[in-house]
Amino acid sequence: MLYGPPGTGKTLTVMYLAARMPGRTHIIMTGHGLGAVGNVGHFAKMLAPTTVVIEDVDLIAQERGFPGMQTQQLVFELLNQLDGISDDADILYVLTTNRPDILEPALAARPSRVDLAVELPMPDADGRRRLLELYARGLKLDGVRLESYVERTAGRARRTSRRCSGAPRCSRRSRSQPP
Ligand SMILES: Nc1ncnc2c1ncn2[C@@H]1O[C@H](COP(=O)(O)OP(=O)(O)OP(=O)(O)O)[C@@H](O)[C@H]1O
Ligand SMILES: [Mg+2]
Repeated sequence: MLYGPPGTGKTLTVMYLAARMPGRTHIIMTGHGLGAVGNVGHFAKMLAPTTVVIEDVDLIAQERGFPGMQTQQLVFELLNQLDGISDDADILYVLTTNRPDILEPALAARPSRVDLAVELPMPDADGRRRLLELYARGLKLDGVRLESYVERTAGRARRTSRRCSGAPRCSRRSRSQPP
């Protein structure tokens, strides 16, 4: 399970992991697709080795259920899938959430169900500096003091940092350069 505040790179990490695991089938469940969680184990077994990504698992695995959604049924289906993985099947489930605090304890608090929980926290000053440098590639930054943006983006993930990198004094050198 990858957990952490919005915009800290959980989806990005999942995509990176998928790219680094060639030869596996990747099933990515997100949004309304989460409603089909009960069938995923069947396909995962058929197509193994398989990585099943369940994005924003809190949408179906909230302790008290998501208002207006029949989440109770879905969370049991998910638990069944996790419990049903046999030792000889090469199936990896990757769950992401930005609301670990509201997850159904039967999912989050039982070590046998979530083997590894990795926090992706808000970036510290060094992380923000590196993100600013990364996303300011190709921008003319004459007279811009990057350090002031490192300070001003404290408590923000990359999604907001990107907005800051488009500050008035920045201009693009060439449109063909990567963002
Ligand atoms: N470590 C990082 N390095 C480079 N870019 C990053 C990093 N973390 C996040 N980003 C960028 O920030 C944006 C948001 O990241 P992402 O969608 O992975 O966040 P998230 O944790 O999945 O958010 P949410 O909880 O809202 O689903 C993406 O465009 C991604 O490219
Ligand atoms: Mg995400």
